[in-house]
Amino acid sequence: MAEKSINGTTLSYEERGSGVPVVLLHGFPLDRRIWKDQVDPLSKQYRVIAVDLRGFGQSKSNTPFTMKSLAEDICSLLRAINATPCVLGGLSMGGYVALAFAREYQKDLRGLMLIDTRAEGDTSEGKAGRQKMIDLARTSGSKAVADQMMPKMLAPSTPKNQPAVAQDLQRIMEACPALTIEHALAAMRDRDDQTAFLPSISVPTLILVGQEDAITPPKMAEAMNAQIPRSKLVIIPDAGHMSPMEKPQEVTRAMQELLARL
Ligand code: MLT
Repeated sequence: MAEKSINGTTLSYEERGSGVPVVLLHGFPLDRRIWKDQVDPLSKQYRVIAVDLRGFGQSKSNTPFTMKSLAEDICSLLRAINATPCVLGGLSMGGYVALAFAREYQKDLRGLMLIDTRAEGDTSEGKAGRQKMIDLARTSGSKAVADQMMPKMLAPSTPKNQPAVAQDLQRIMEACPALTIEHALAAMRDRDDQTAFLPSISVPTLILVGQEDAITPPKMAEAMNAQIPRSKLVIIPDAGHMSPMEKPQEVTRAMQELLARL
């Protein structure tokens, strides 16, 4: 584990291997452990950097943030450790941060991996749902949020066929501090819609989604694929929103294919 003091907080990250930097950003309410099956194989050829975003995992912080400020944290970290230009990958909320990064720091980017994510902002119904979950986090804590999210996170067959994946995921979600959950929900609620920006993304881009992703379904991935000029869409069968944990080898292979195209 490595740490770096960035923008008034200490960011914790795992760094392995050498070569082109490949940076991985987790989703909500998760941490870098979701990439455990990708870090090792990718690090044989690349410099892999899996970061705990501010407030998540080992990056302890009580300060609120936005998708833009999280992107700024990542950019400051990567510049501080000489890891730009990089290939940036993000799952779900990590994808929102990756898109914010692509928009602000295009020169620091060599490639993009948008995994189980979307470009659209929240609908008014979505925003109301965020408020309900903020209230739940405040009144009942992280476990209640994890319990509510769990049924949507995985393909229906995953808990049956891979109970250890479901257990790992539950443990990671329960470990997320309730205050970070509140901050992240507010930040996702208020994030920009990035749809109009997609045609300006000029780097090779992997768009990957679990076929049974109930949170950011394949039609959202298809919509991004239609707008990003140099993108390739990969749909993973028998995977839900957590495809890197549910189908690790397939996800790693898709990443390796993008990286080989650079
Ligand atoms: C995530 O997986 O990061 C979140 O569920 C995304 C979201 O709620 O928009």
